Amino acid sequence: MSFAFGIGIGTQNNQGEWLEVFYQQPVITPDNGLIEVARNVLDYQGGNQAVSVTPEQLKSLSDGLRQLGQMEQAALAGKAADSRRPVVVTLLETDDTASSTPEVYLKLHLISSRQARPHELKLDGIFGLLPNLAWTSEGAVDLSELPDRQLQARLEGRTLEVKSVDKFPQMTDYVVPKGVRIADTARVRLGAYVGEGTTVMHEGFINFNAGTEGTSMIEGRISAGVMIGKGSDLGGGCSTMGTLSGGGNIIISVGENCLIGANAGIGIPLGDRCKVEAGLYITAGTKVALLDDNNKLVEIIKARDLAAKPDLLFRRNSQSGAVECKTNKTAIELNEELHANN
Ligand SMILES: CC(C)(COP(=O)(O)OP(=O)(O)OC[C@H]1O[C@@H](n2cnc3c(N)ncnc32)[C@H](O)[C@@H]1OP(=O)(O)O)[C@@H](O)C(=O)NCCC(=O)NCCS
Repeated sequence: MSFAFGIGIGTQNNQGEWLEVFYQQPVITPDNGLIEVARNVLDYQGGNQAVSVTPEQLKSLSDGLRQLGQMEQAALAGKAADSRRPVVVTLLETDDTASSTPEVYLKLHLISSRQARPHELKLDGIFGLLPNLAWTSEGAVDLSELPDRQLQARLEGRTLEVKSVDKFPQMTDYVVPKGVRIADTARVRLGAYVGEGTTVMHEGFINFNAGTEGTSMIEGRISAGVMIGKGSDLGGGCSTMGTLSGGGNIIISVGENCLIGANAGIGIPLGDRCKVEAGLYITAGTKVALLDDNNKLVEIIKARDLAAKPDLLFRRNSQSGAVECKTNKTAIELNEELHANN
């Protein structure tokens, strides 16, 4: 059983190096017949490979896939045979550390097309394989080739618009998953997992290998690696702490039916049905006054001890300034729960 397969149309720089690849029909765990056809046509010997293919090979691939009954892949291979851009067939036997740009793009497509969930794929080392590019109105351009392309466009009476300079493109230029609304498409990177029923408003942002399980209103930032449970909302400008740049090493997640208030932030995972007051940033070490269902102080603890616990309300006491956590449990229940593993 193979791990992944994709026929991609891509862009190369003047040196013939891959800059990016678009896979219209990426497949996770492709059936053996499909791999067998690729093996015969492309002389593929197994392992993880991104094979640059000729129009003739694509026609044979298309014929083989049609005989197999893989009509959509066959049609794609047939169309790709007439491509004016380079075509690659990426075959991944296993989910190992990627070794080429087309491989990385296939993995990012698998996540954004919801065939793989964040954290399920091996993505270590991908930064080194994703070139920093100018994403322009005429596609991806190698930065060293950009001045010539800009001049060329001007000479021909056009303006080359540079929409971003980044290693990741915006997801929607590659994948638009079913049932989502994204107000500003530049704010969701390829490799994001946007669950059905999610709305990402203009302030919202979703990084790669991160996303939402289902219905959510996202007006805050979902950092790399962070997953938001069904029915949870992120208020305007709020932040989930990532682990990439100076954040902690705890992987942040948000349970179901939570609300992170506007301009709030979390540096701990939240359980189900939690709320964080607007403007309150909880880091793992924040000292928190834990209050029971009668608003009585039970204990002062660090926020990390409340990680992933359900039914909590975090707020900053507007009179004392202390960070408080209210629960719907009695002092006895809370004590038992907190000290169960001592
Ligand atoms: C924290 C929050 C959830 C509390 O809301 P709530 O549960 O509806 O609570 P209420 O405002 O009704 O307040 C309940 C009581 O707690 C008190 N209280 C609320 N916040 C308090 C605070 N920070 N410090 C001290 N007391 C506070 C209220 O005064 C009220 O007191 P009372 O019982 O004497 O009347 C809410 O203030 C909040 O921040 N929501 C986030 C909204 C948001 O940002 N949405 C996204 C928009 S983009």
